Amino acid sequence: MANPIPIVQMTGIIKRFGQTTALAAVDLAITEGEVHALVGENGAGKSTLMHILAGIVQADHGQISIRGNPVTIDSVEEANKLGIGMVHQHFMLLPSLTVAENLTLGREPKRRGFFDRAAAKKAVTDLGERYDLHVNPHVRVSELSVGDLQRLEILRALYRGADILILDEPTGVLTPQETQGLFRVIRELKRDGKTTLFISHKLEEVIEIADTITVLRDGHVTGKPQPTMTDSQEIARLMVGRDVFLEFERPQLSQGAALLEVAGLCGKGVNGITFNVYANEIVGIAGVTGNGQTELADLIAGIQTTQAGTIKFSGKDVTRDSVAQRRAASLAYIPEDRNKQGLAPDGGISDNLLMGAHSRPPLIKRGILNTAAIRQRTEMLIQKFSIKTKNANNAANTLSGGNAQRIVVARELADNKPLIVAAQPTRGIDIAACEFVRDALVQRRNAGAGVLLISADLGEVMSISDRILVIYRGKIIGEVAGKEARADDLGLLMAGITNVNVSG
Ligand SMILES: Nc1ncnc2c1ncn2[C@@H]1O[C@H](COP(=O)(O)OP(=O)(O)OP(=O)(O)O)[C@@H](O)[C@H]1O
Ligand SMILES: [Mg+2]
Repeated sequence: MANPIPIVQMTGIIKRFGQTTALAAVDLAITEGEVHALVGENGAGKSTLMHILAGIVQADHGQISIRGNPVTIDSVEEANKLGIGMVHQHFMLLPSLTVAENLTLGREPKRRGFFDRAAAKKAVTDLGERYDLHVNPHVRVSELSVGDLQRLEILRALYRGADILILDEPTGVLTPQETQGLFRVIRELKRDGKTTLFISHKLEEVIEIADTITVLRDGHVTGKPQPTMTDSQEIARLMVGRDVFLEFERPQLSQGAALLEVAGLCGKGVNGITFNVYANEIVGIAGVTGNGQTELADLIAGIQTTQAGTIKFSGKDVTRDSVAQRRAASLAYIPEDRNKQGLAPDGGISDNLLMGAHSRPPLIKRGILNTAAIRQRTEMLIQKFSIKTKNANNAANTLSGGNAQRIVVARELADNKPLIVAAQPTRGIDIAACEFVRDALVQRRNAGAGVLLISADLGEVMSISDRILVIYRGKIIGEVAGKEARADDLGLLMAGITNVNVSG
């Protein structure tokens, strides 16, 4: 085929937010029917570039052509008309409405002037059949799993006639199995001639699914590595400008005192769990999402109520203690859902970084906030965790997704607490930052902390855990020494198959 006209051509796109240059003259050409991946560090400008294409944000300069025709995309409506649909990093569905209602919102099928429920339901099932995207049309969105939410978002874009689909970090919250399901959908869309733009931090996945890769760094395109010719190392280097893969310094340490003792723990989703975490170790929890790991973390943090069993921190029973008491005593908690539990999105970056520390010296002196100390500590954390912001007084919701996650991690690791519960600590953050967070956890372990690591990323669990516990339907069904763990065997255990010799 002789050089076809790109379906999307973005030329010289510039976008500034105050003093931040999010995009500095970016050129991007997308071929019809391809799967085009956008990768780059947190804050590189990926979401902003896609928001411009989807009509959510307007560029300061630059041109966009669709199928060779210059266009002005000044609203989401306009983007929809051009066949562009976006699935967001944070879902934008209305939780109290049903699947069918959400799907058709704003484009309701009508019958004699009323919402045509049957037609809406048919739309969900027809599209679902065609693209292997099955979601029950009658359930309320508040009851859906993240995988379902995402399928619904994709269905909604298709319902609106999108043939250029933008997926912003669609796999960030998915299990490996769900990710493979999504990839089947993307391949199906491709067979149908649709074009997919895909943002991801998981470079192995990008290499697997993408026809073309564009790497962004600091608002510039820094490379277009060929998926068939490249590897994660090279892509990461283009993203960051240096080598990023760390060898974790993990000296053999003998188990110290018990820092966390969980005995016979029962609560919502957790059916009698017993284990300890000792000083100088990282205990990883491996499991398919939805088997009680979120609930386990929330029980330990005190966010959910314990129905039976006990929780001890350093020998002291905290089962009846409040969240604040547990955290004051000894617990650092990186919650899974940073938007709901980890951050006050409208609050300032500095306030979010220091939350909790505000009420203690040295940030407070004789009842008065010590502004110099506050500024110093904020600056130190921003530096140490490479949080990309021009002004620490800006609201946390002006940060890119990954930079918001870094705030939570920075705040929780700042105080050197002895016990760390880290739930999905690297979700949504770029590969260099993943390595950084893992290294920070390993360093805390080396310094005598106990770490409970809950992660849907089996590679992550295997790379830094001293022991791995496998959770299945709210119970621990196996334990493997970190060094001896093999992904295949863990995978079987995670599926609930226990008659495997895991350390052979
Ligand atoms: N509404 C806004 N106000 C101020 N700054 C913003 C706004 N939206 C984005 N930015 C800034 O623009 C830059 C690019 O952000 P963007 O969200 O595009 O990054 P990203 O590549 O998607 O990162 P991530 O991988 O973390 O999601 C960041 O420095 C971000 O803080
Ligand atoms: Mg983003």
